[in-house]
Amino acid sequence: MSGSQTYAAVKEQYHHYDLLREELVKQINRLCREKNAVILAHNYQVPEIQDVADYTGDSLGLALEAGRTDARIIAFCGVHFMAESAKILNPDKRVLLPHMGAGCSLADSITPESLADWKERYPGHAVVTYINSTAAVKAVSDICCTSANVVSVVRSLDTDKILITPDRNLGNWVAQQVPEKDIAVYDGVCPVHDVLRRASLERTCSEHPDAIIIAHPECRQEVVSIAHEVCSTTGMIKAVERYPEAGTFIIGTEYGMIHQLQKRFPTKSFIPADGLGGCRLHCPYMKVTGLQDLYFSLNDERYEISLDEETERGARQALERMMAVPRDR
Ligand code: 13P
Ligand code: SF4
Repeated sequence: MSGSQTYAAVKEQYHHYDLLREELVKQINRLCREKNAVILAHNYQVPEIQDVADYTGDSLGLALEAGRTDARIIAFCGVHFMAESAKILNPDKRVLLPHMGAGCSLADSITPESLADWKERYPGHAVVTYINSTAAVKAVSDICCTSANVVSVVRSLDTDKILITPDRNLGNWVAQQVPEKDIAVYDGVCPVHDVLRRASLERTCSEHPDAIIIAHPECRQEVVSIAHEVCSTTGMIKAVERYPEAGTFIIGTEYGMIHQLQKRFPTKSFIPADGLGGCRLHCPYMKVTGLQDLYFSLNDERYEISLDEETERGARQALERMMAVPRDR
């Protein structure tokens, strides 16, 4: 086969992929109409999922949106703990997680048993649990938080002794924001954010010296301490709006966020903080869901989230307490 024939064959193959994608999007939209379903997607999802979604947002925004919709089915394109939270807050709706492999290493770093050990070490501390946790862990916590409201949640508590679980980096960052409280932190991390070091961020900054640095609070202290803004993924959209004169932003979070930022601000440049196009800031769980999974999920109404009543009740209490607290800003 000659070089040009090879090129033509590859082009033809990609043309088939485009047709397949267009057809899948058409069928997904049809299923949503016929079944009264809504698609919610996290900001880290692959571009084609973000683009077909009815709503894209951070953990808090998605939980709020799940409560607002009057759809019968919520197809939740994110990770398991997010779909579980949507179900807990909306027990009468069918919540589907299109791919059962969509877990979270941070959520896996804590169990009700390991939390019980930490409670013994910190008696009398109110337990603030990040939404990146299982319902069983939420059920034995006092209140939940997300990266968008953690400072307000901690300030809202009428006690000064607080144990933040499971993310150590988020906990350390909050302890700095609320120095008047005595904050202990659990020992879990998100490997996607924890892997980002100051040395790589500084290398990226040296290539873009005028860039504004925006980092997620799951990043290490050595990273957030040199960021101009530290916020949730949707908070990053608002942060960009605060710098109308800036043209370049370095983004310290999972690289799926770049798609959402580029869509909203097409004239600005967004550089993944690893300086390697985001290949070191890749969450395999967030990237596991594709259009075919979403299509089969809607068609077969799989995989439905269900919880035992007692866990659901306990987790709902911790989540509802959180929902009563406003976003940080
Ligand atoms: P956000 O709530 O900021 O979108 O973050 C979720 C998450 O999983 C971060 O790793
Ligand atoms: Fe979990 Fe980290 Fe992936 Fe977020 S980026 S879903 S915290 S593993």
